[in-house]
Parts: sequence; C-alpha cells; structure tokens
Amino acid sequence: MKAAIFSLGLCAATAHANIVFHWVQPTCDFSSVGPSRCLEGQVCAEGDVCVPDLSARDSHYASFSRHAASEASIEERAAGTAPRTDGRCGQAFGGATCDPQGPYGGCCSQYGYCGNTNAHCSVANGCQNGCSAAASSAAPSKAATSSAKPATSAKPVTSAKSSTSSAPVKVASSASSAAAPSGTSTAPRSDGRCGKDFGGATCDPKGAYGGCCSQYGYCGTTSDHCLVSSGCQNGCTGAASSSGSSPSSSKSGSATTKSPVSKPVSSPGSSVTSSSTQEPVLGTSRSSAAPTATGKVTTDGSCGASYGGTICGDWAAGSCCSMYGYCGNTSSHCGSGCQSGPCLSAPVVAAPGASPAPPAPILGSFDVVGDSGVPVMHAGLLPNGKVAFLDKVENYTQVKLSDGQYAYAAEYDTELNTYVPLSYKTNSFCAGGAYLADGTFLALGGNGPLDFIDPTVGDGFDGIRYLKRSVNNTDLDGQNWSEPGNKLASKRWYPSAQTLADGSVFVASGSLNGLDPSNMTNNNPTWELLNAQGISDGINRPMEILVKNQPYYMYPFMHLMKDGSLYVFVSKSSELFDIAGNKSIKTYPDMPGEYRTYPNTGGSVMLPLSSSNNWTSDVIICGGGAYQDITSPTDPSCGRISPMSANPTWEMDSMPEGRGMVEGTLLPDGTVLWLNGCNKGAQGFGLGQNPTFDALLYDPAQPLGKRFTTAGATTIPRLYHSVALLLLDGTVMVTGSNPVEQPVISANNNTAFPYDTEFRVEIYTPPYLMGNATALRPRKITLSTLEIKAGASSTFYVNFNAPPGAKNVKIALYHGGFVTHSVHMGARMMFLDFTGWNAGATAQELTVSGPPSLNVAPPGPYVVYVVVDGVPGIGETVLVS
Ligand SMILES: *[C@@H]1O[C@H](CO)[C@@H](O)[C@H](O)[C@H]1NC(C)=O
Ligand SMILES: *[C@@H]1O[C@H](CO)[C@@H](O)[C@H](O)[C@H]1NC(C)=O
Ligand SMILES: *[C@@H]1O[C@H](CO)[C@@H](O)[C@H](O)[C@H]1NC(C)=O
Ligand SMILES: *[C@@H]1O[C@H](CO)[C@@H](O)[C@H](O)[C@H]1NC(C)=O
Ligand SMILES: *[C@@H]1O[C@H](CO)[C@@H](O)[C@H](O)[C@H]1NC(C)=O
Ligand SMILES: *[C@@H]1O[C@H](CO)[C@@H](O)[C@H](O)[C@H]1NC(C)=O
Ligand SMILES: *[C@@H]1O[C@H](CO)[C@@H](O)[C@H](O)[C@H]1NC(C)=O
Ligand SMILES: *[C@@H]1O[C@H](CO)[C@@H](O)[C@H](O)[C@H]1NC(C)=O
Ligand SMILES: *[C@@H]1O[C@H](CO)[C@@H](O)[C@H](O)[C@H]1NC(C)=O
Repeated sequence: MKAAIFSLGLCAATAHANIVFHWVQPTCDFSSVGPSRCLEGQVCAEGDVCVPDLSARDSHYASFSRHAASEASIEERAAGTAPRTDGRCGQAFGGATCDPQGPYGGCCSQYGYCGNTNAHCSVANGCQNGCSAAASSAAPSKAATSSAKPATSAKPVTSAKSSTSSAPVKVASSASSAAAPSGTSTAPRSDGRCGKDFGGATCDPKGAYGGCCSQYGYCGTTSDHCLVSSGCQNGCTGAASSSGSSPSSSKSGSATTKSPVSKPVSSPGSSVTSSSTQEPVLGTSRSSAAPTATGKVTTDGSCGASYGGTICGDWAAGSCCSMYGYCGNTSSHCGSGCQSGPCLSAPVVAAPGASPAPPAPILGSFDVVGDSGVPVMHAGLLPNGKVAFLDKVENYTQVKLSDGQYAYAAEYDTELNTYVPLSYKTNSFCAGGAYLADGTFLALGGNGPLDFIDPTVGDGFDGIRYLKRSVNNTDLDGQNWSEPGNKLASKRWYPSAQTLADGSVFVASGSLNGLDPSNMTNNNPTWELLNAQGISDGINRPMEILVKNQPYYMYPFMHLMKDGSLYVFVSKSSELFDIAGNKSIKTYPDMPGEYRTYPNTGGSVMLPLSSSNNWTSDVIICGGGAYQDITSPTDPSCGRISPMSANPTWEMDSMPEGRGMVEGTLLPDGTVLWLNGCNKGAQGFGLGQNPTFDALLYDPAQPLGKRFTTAGATTIPRLYHSVALLLLDGTVMVTGSNPVEQPVISANNNTAFPYDTEFRVEIYTPPYLMGNATALRPRKITLSTLEIKAGASSTFYVNFNAPPGAKNVKIALYHGGFVTHSVHMGARMMFLDFTGWNAGATAQELTVSGPPSLNVAPPGPYVVYVVVDGVPGIGETVLVS
C-alpha cells in the first residue's frame, strides 16, 4: 500500500513534492532505551523495524475499501457474536451483531453502529453483519455515505484506540476553568479578582469592578460576568445584568460620528463553468538498517540511524535523539521512537481516550448550496462579505480564465452561491496568510511552478500575493490577485502568519523545497517580518522552537497575546515568544497525546476574549495523530491551557472519536464548532481514511466533561485540503477536500482511493439558527462607523431591533483569519463592553467600547455580530485600526 502511494513520482528531480515523512522507525530493539520505541499505532516487527499495527486497522478498513466488501467485514460476519445492549457492533466490538428486534436495528454499519437504514444495511456501504438484502439494493454513492449511527440518545464512542478504555483519564486538570458557581465565598478583594482561584472571593457590587465573578475570576457586570450559563461563579444576577457597562474603563466617549452606515448591496457575481498531469511525490523509503550507536556526537543537531549513528551528547537543544533524527528534550524526542539519550520508557502523560458527547438539544444541519469552482485549499472571509478560495496549480478545475488556463482561485458570493474565477501569478500550493490593516488578504509562500500543467504560473515558494477588497463598496470585487513582485526573505512552503498590533505581519516556518523534512537541509525553521504594507524586511531569524521540533515544525499554531507576545505551538511543545526581543520568554509543559501539527494537524482556537477574562483567554487544541501514513491512529483528546497564567497546565478533555485535520471555528455565541477531518490516517495525498462527519460543539463555559455535544452530521468527506469558516450570516461554510495529487472527479471512478476532489459547498447552520430561531434574530443592525478604533476611550454605536422579551445581548468582534490545513491563522473573537441595553425593549441603541488595544484586536477586517439571547444577527464587516 505504501509503495503504491509513494511511487507515483514521474520527475521527482524537477518538480516539487508533497512532503513525505519517514514513518517507519528504523529500529525498535535498541537495547539501551527500554521497551518498544515504536510510535502509537505501530508494532515492532521482524528485523526490528516498526510497522503499522494492522490488527488495529480492522475496525476502520471497511470504509477505506468500501468499493468492495472487505476481507475484514467478511471475516467479521463469520465471527458474529451476541448483540450488545449499547447499539455497537462489528469488528471493533468483538464481532458483536445487532438485534433486529432491538431498539437500534439489525444491521451493523461500517462504523460499528446498529441501525436499519441503507447506510447501515448495504454491503456496498460497508455493512459488517446482519446486512439486509432489501436495504442494500441502493447503489453506493458518495453522497449517500453516512456515519450510520444509532438514532437514539447519547452517541457511543468510536475510538481509534478501541482496545482501550473510553473513559477519559483526567490529567493535569487546570484549576481555572470549572464553571459551577462556588458556595465558599469570602469577602471581596481590592484587585477585582474573585472565585475559586482566589479563595472563593466575592465581588463588591458597589466596588470599582462590579458584583459578578466571571468564570475566569474577574469581577464585572456584563452578561459574561453575571450569567450562570456563562460560568459566573458568584454574585451572579441570573438574568443578564440590565446594563452591560464594563468595570472600570472611562466612558468619556470619543469623537465618533453617530450616523448609521449601511452597505450597498453586493452586485451579482457571474458563474463560469467549463470542462487533469501529475505532481510527483517522493518515492523514498528509509533504510531499515538498525542503528549502531557509534558514540559519535552530533555537530549539527541531527542524530541516529540516518545520520551516521550519531548521538546528541550534551547538544544544547537536548540529549534525546528523536525517531526522525533530531536532538531535543521534549516528549517528541524522549518519548516513543526515541533512538538514544535519556529516552523515557513510558509516555510522559497519557492523553484521555475518546469520550461520548450527547447530542445537542437542537441539531444543526448541513446543506449543499453550490460549487466552489476551484478545489479549496485556502480560504478567507473578505471585507466585502464574500469568500476568497485559493488553490494550487491543478490539471483540472471547474472554471477557466479568459486566457484558456484553469483558474486556481475564485471569489464566492455567499448570497447568490456563485463564483468568479481569479488569476494569480505564482503557485500558491500550501501557502500561509494573514490580512493587512486595510483589509487586504495576503497569501504567503507556496510551491514551485508546474510548467507542464500551466506555463503561465510561476514559482510561488517565496510569493507574496495580495487581494484587496473594501468593506463599503464593491469596486474591487472580482479583481485578480495582485503580485507586484515582492518576495518573502526565503522560500516557505507551509508557513504560518499573524498580523501584529502595528500592522506588520509575523511569518514563520516552512519548507525550502518541499522535500523530506526529516533532513534539516530542506527546512526553514526561521521567521521574518513583513511591514504594514506587506513587504518583507528580508531577515530570516532562526527560531529555536521550530528548529528543535523538526520535522513537526511546519504550520505552527500561533495566537497573539494582549501584551504583544506570541503563543507558538508545534508538535507537542509550546512557548511564549517575544517578537521584538527575538526570544522565547516562557515554555510550557508538553501537551499529552500525539502530534498536533502537520502532518498530523488538529485544530487550535483561542477562546473569546472579554473584560470578563481581562482580555486573556485560554487556547484549546484538539485532534492530531501519530505519524504520516494512512495507518496512523488519530487523537481524540483536546488540551486547554491559559498561556498567560502563572502556572499554566494542560487541562485534558476529549472528543467522541479520534480526529485528524479537525478544525475549530469560533461562533459568535462564544462556542467553538469542530468540523472535518478523518478518524484514521494523516495529512498528505491519499493518506486519510474514515472521514469524520459529525459537527461537534464545544461550550467553553460548561464544566469539564460536559463541554462537547454533537450537533448534526454531513455525508460529505472533508479530508486533506478542506476548509470551514464562519460567514456574515452566522452560518458556517464547509468546502474543499482534495486529498489527491491532481483532481479526481467521480467520473474517473477512483477505485484505488475512494476520496475524490470535492467541489460541493455546504452551509452548516448551527443550532442557534435552526427552526424558528431565525425569527429571534436581532434585525436592522446599523453601526455608527465601519472603522473601529482600538483603545480605552474608543466607542461606537450599534442600533438594532431586538425580538420581544429579549434578555441579554453580546457584541462580538470577529476575525476569521486565513484558513488552511485546519489551521485558522490569526482567528480571534472578543465580546466588547457596552452600555445602554434595555432588556425587553425592541428598539436598542448600545454604546459599545472598542477593543482595548491593537494587541487584543490587531488591525484588519473584522465582523461585528449582535447576539441576542444566543442568536446572532447578520454581521457587518468593519476595519479595526
Ligand atoms: C487586567 O490586566 C491588566 C494588564 O493588561 C492589569 O493591569 C490589570 O490589573 C488587570 N485587571 C485585573 C482586574 O486583574
Ligand atoms: C491529471 O493528472 C492525473 C494524474 O497525473 C491524471 O490521472 C489525469 O488524467 C489528469 N487529468 C487531466 C484532465 O488531464
Ligand atoms: C530543554 O532545553 C531547553 C534549551 O533548549 C531548556 O531551556 C529547557 O529547560 C529544557 N527543558 C527540559 C524539560 O529539560
Ligand atoms: C469606506 O472605507 C474607506 C476605507 O476603506 C474609508 O476611507 C471611507 O471613509 C469609507 N466610507 C464610508 C462611507 O464609510
Ligand atoms: C484576471 O486575469 C485574467 C487572466 O490573466 C484576465 O483574463 C482577466 O481579465 C483578469 N480580470 C480582471 C478583473 O482584471
Ligand atoms: C540531506 O539532504 C542533503 C541535500 O539534499 C543531502 O546531501 C544529504 O545526503 C541528505 N542527508 C540524508 C541523511 O539523507
Ligand atoms: C534571533 O534569535 C536566534 C536564536 O533563537 C538567533 O540565532 C538569531 O541570530 C537572532 N536573530 C536576530 C536578527 O536577532
Ligand atoms: C464509472 O462507473 C460507472 C458505474 O460503474 C460507469 O457507469 C461509468 O461508465 C464509469 N465511468 C468511467 C469514466 O469509467
Ligand atoms: C418556536 O417553535 C417552538 C416549538 O416548535 C415553539 O414552542 C415556540 O413558540 C416557537 N417560537 C417562536 C418565536 O415562534
């Protein structure tokens, strides 16, 4: 299987490849380092090499080979045992069958759930046992794929680690987040802090801050402080405070003009349609020769079997030699796969296994609304409310440019569900990106030209592409990407970016050539700075956390903190980076569990900022995987950390199943939606299987263990190169999935790998807009300005009509960031303070305070959402400066 996937290269020497890691551990019987050194999901095989544990594949194999009844499922049917009572069945459950008279149904689905729909019963859909001929008559189709779960109550667990207990193991529990009101209150303090982390201190309602204690332990008066549902700890006024006034900031008002602004209606886009060569991948496979520890000490930080048997000695970064041949001292160096040095004989801290999530009271829905025109590898919400789609050079897309070449970019109109093609000059394959203060969308880095596919597109490795759109007119709509010739200081494939308070853009990481990242000569573990116009300062500065975490150093997760420092996470490690000082100022404990960044990326979200948490929030990271192969298990666990707290620790939680490429999207009500990805495999062409279809909602204000609910499921696999992003109307666009070198469309009948290129655009409607909830939306929303200033004295006005009897309101300021590879670069949201809320009244006029600083809200395009009793109105795009 591996050989088939990796041996497609035609001309590996001349074109650029999908980065392929060596996933085979050269040895597992390296006597100096204890038991098997194989990674999770691998076993030590003959010749002392680590190979994927194929016995663990069986519960998932059926879906991968669903074009034919799999060996596994046939064996399974023969080995059926008595039904269980929980609706689970099949290979992963000892071959259990389903009771046709039972509450679920008699067919066992490919995912091991009993039921009686076609998705459960059809052999073609991977039915494992009890398959009924009647229901299996329907032909298999991609669109009909369903996770086929029991329709009743709480969903049982589907875990990659099905042999292990599904009960989460609570580790490293952080004291800072349980939300239950505390009964052990003591007298108010003078510093505005309160709650369980402060001896149960209460807040003085007559004091400087306000009488409610927020879930994060800050006194205040907003609904974030006062609502029990928001985690209020004490002094809670239950129903929202009648005025949303913020604690202490001076309300002196600003020179803001108070004239409602409304935008012109967008002009219709035009849809153009029309009617595939190969990008080589590396055909490498590491020598499986067992290392011989020579005792020779590294001179460059490389080590182990592939590097002459060198050891790390007292190399500054650490003395453990990782399985990939890098010296370091993190759990990815000293844990599984460690070749030499002070290797650990057991995982440092185990991450929790999957845990069930009950269905949300109201489920959301997925609806296909249109086609994307181009495969969507990268996306971003533009200041004009449309969505930019960006892809690599392909030998087929749905739309051509007027010069006859395929388009690889498009601008999608979310009201009309149409797109216009856009041209670019350099290959944007696996770029990163950010926004400039004026709203310009930037795509940074990429890959080399593919002349044999399209001679009109040049080398994009160091490309800087600009797409300018306006918040208040449509003049620029439909214009192509602009590339005046500015270049990055170095070649960066898989970089991440973050806009800073002064409008400059921090750009970090990437590959120099798209070749094997386990060889450091290919890697670019440095950062550079673009000025506020998006022009590089030309300086490549080595960044230790990236250097040390090779080969898991690309597409780092980065979140800007309110003091201007940057939280940076790669692999399993993180630090707080002082950009001006070019140095690490704090390091964090490694996150338990598997790798979390490329090529086993999960998602990372900074939770909403507000005065209730003093504009310092937690970061949550979910999902991940063990190694870059289709056999890799995925990680169901999530870790939550407060980067700015005195003693940050990982509070662990988990999703109902392991997920790779899962991406987290903030919603305007303050919850986080997790979508897309797969239950088995990794990033890379042809490497993901068992798509995960469930929408998971995470409510940060709920107590640990009660935060996840399932909220609807799609039927469309969204694997490598797919996206999800929040739109102006509060729904979420889900599109892309192109896990192949060049587009494969259904017509090609891709039997070798069942996941084709997806052009379908879906809209996920969250529970807050389902059913008659739309009747409860705030309407006629107008803002006094589309240019919001940051700073203590900045205010603007928001007028709107609230539904009768409305109890509380939040004003969300949202930036969705540059979305690619399940990383949402720069994404953030805050709830602004305001005064003037008149509970129960229809006509409302709020005086809203701007974000307190440009570190809290870096300059650029945002969306203002008015959220009444949890239901968002249509958002308005603004620029923050
Ligand atoms: C909030 O953070 C600021 C620094 O950004 C600090 O000066 C202030 O004391 C904090 N407020 C409280 C109530 O802790
Ligand atoms: C695109 O390339 C793939 C792989 O090289 C090939 O199978 C396919 O036929 C090509 N498609 C077109 C439309 O040329
Ligand atoms: C790991 O090495 C770094 C230097 O690269 C050092 O600052 C850090 O304290 C070390 N951590 C551990 C856990 O040894
Ligand atoms: C439109 O936006 C531009 C900046 O993007 C600004 O200069 C101009 O004043 C805005 N016009 C209105 C009517 O808001
Ligand atoms: C975009 O680029 C294409 C191809 O170069 C060109 O045909 C088209 O006219 C350009 N569109 C605009 C709006 O300039
Ligand atoms: C790493 O890459 C360089 C440059 O391509 C090559 O010379 C060297 O042999 C490679 N090292 C290994 C261990 O593959
Ligand atoms: C930035 O810091 C790194 C060490 O982390 C050092 O190698 C590099 O020279 C520094 N660069 C500049 C420009 O200060
Ligand atoms: C794909 O398979 C279907 C059904 O088996 C068949 O009708 C169709 O002709 C095939 N298409 C191609 C392009 O081979
Ligand atoms: C929404 O629907 C529910 C149940 O269908 C009903 O009880 C409620 O009154 C409706 N609310 C509105 C505003 O129509």
